[in-house]
Amino acid sequence: MAADATLLDALREDLGLTSLKDGCSPQGQCGCCTVLVDGVARVACVTPVRRVAGRSVTTASSIDEPLLDRLVAAFEATGASQCGFCTPGILSRLAGLSRRGVPDESKVRTALGAHLCRCTGFQPIVEAALLALDPAAQLPPRRDADGAAARATLESGTPQRAGDVVVLGQGGFAADTAPEGSTVALATAAGGYELAATQAAARLASAKVQGRNSTMPLRHPIEPPAVEGAVVVLATTFVEPAYVEPDASWCAPGGEPSLPFANAGAFGAKRNSPIREDARRLADELGTPVLAVWPREEVVRRGAKRPPLALALRPDGAGVVRVGRTPDSDDLTAVLEQVAAIAPDVTVELVDVTGPRIGATHRGAVVAELLAARASIGSQPGEEVEVVAPGGGRAVVRLDAAGIVHVAVDAGEPLCAITLRSYVIGAVHHGLGLVRSEGIAVDDEGQVHDLTIRSFGIIGAQAMPSVEVEIIESDRPSVPIGVAVMAATMAAAWTEAGQPPTWPLS
Ligand code: FES
Ligand code: FES
Repeated sequence: MAADATLLDALREDLGLTSLKDGCSPQGQCGCCTVLVDGVARVACVTPVRRVAGRSVTTASSIDEPLLDRLVAAFEATGASQCGFCTPGILSRLAGLSRRGVPDESKVRTALGAHLCRCTGFQPIVEAALLALDPAAQLPPRRDADGAAARATLESGTPQRAGDVVVLGQGGFAADTAPEGSTVALATAAGGYELAATQAAARLASAKVQGRNSTMPLRHPIEPPAVEGAVVVLATTFVEPAYVEPDASWCAPGGEPSLPFANAGAFGAKRNSPIREDARRLADELGTPVLAVWPREEVVRRGAKRPPLALALRPDGAGVVRVGRTPDSDDLTAVLEQVAAIAPDVTVELVDVTGPRIGATHRGAVVAELLAARASIGSQPGEEVEVVAPGGGRAVVRLDAAGIVHVAVDAGEPLCAITLRSYVIGAVHHGLGLVRSEGIAVDDEGQVHDLTIRSFGIIGAQAMPSVEVEIIESDRPSVPIGVAVMAATMAAAWTEAGQPPTWPLS
């Protein structure tokens, strides 16, 4: 083992403990690699392994049985784990917290401040923690795993699993399931891949430089169109989809590459990730199984961004929306067709912009922003905003004076109410983020400068407001609800802020 090997390298690569995840190493910012060292939570990707010689290290899968059982049961009962990538690190953190007595919500949220979750909006995790760490609390029954998986599949658009294995981080992530002995291909800043036996060795051989965030201001690359009589005008920026699991795919020579989204799906954002074809090409060239991995910096440099746009709409909702594309963008035809279907009175213009690759498959790309802008017309702060999304999901959202988000949803047959609620809270989190804080700095040459996972503007556990969810009874077949909730939340949050002309607000 190299002298500068990290605890994460030692546990994941040398001991094969894949419950431990690598979401950003060696940035130390996502919390996915959290373990307990002598009972104290530590992020393993910035802990040199030599520092733990002679000390006790506990990973999520080795937390003492009664507590681990309670944690897993509580996460299952509240829908606190969707893709499960962030969950094992959080389980370790909570096991450490349990040593300091029964925590209150504020203590739990402070502890979760060291973690990022793209899926759940944190609230179900807080609820699970409060239940699990209070020995007097009666745990509700686990979710129906089949119903949970069916609702998760509907919301993410990819086959999903649910149950204890997902909570324990074994949802089948590509970086965990590559055949033993696969050559690791680690993407480098130069645009290629460094080949080695392990990620640690590839990192060392490529002299990988850790990415940083910048102080560069966000750029809104598209001028809003001039529309006479427009009452809402909006420009957005480049947004990192911010999935916590970095792109990874493995392939055997002559075989089919694994999907890069396993149990996550990244809400569509990874659907066209080129990493699959990279894994296939490298495996065929080398004649050996290859695990291709993008470190966090390369996820930002190579991954597709949510399309930036600018729009202006008149009181009747008609107007113009301009959508950005770069030379290597996904084909945006399907997005434009969806816009035409929901708003035939809105003219769509494609605008060439300088910037990173633009994706077409991010959840509600362009559609959610347009639905939000239309729902914002004539809306007043504190009022209910209603959105019906393509697919039929209906959401009504209101932000009250205390900042609490009230959401009522008609998603047809819920399949699993706990899971539906978790996805609704996650969509509120995503919608609030797009309006309030999410964006990455891109310079005039199109280079991305915010390369750390904390620089994307994801709302953290402490800043995330409470969400109250009402599920409207419905006889309709099940429909996805995420885009409707995102759009209605965006409209309510934007209106509350006075509808300034650019997102994010901060
Ligand atoms: S992988 Fe260690 S904090 Fe993200
Ligand atoms: S469940 Fe937290 S990142 Fe997916």
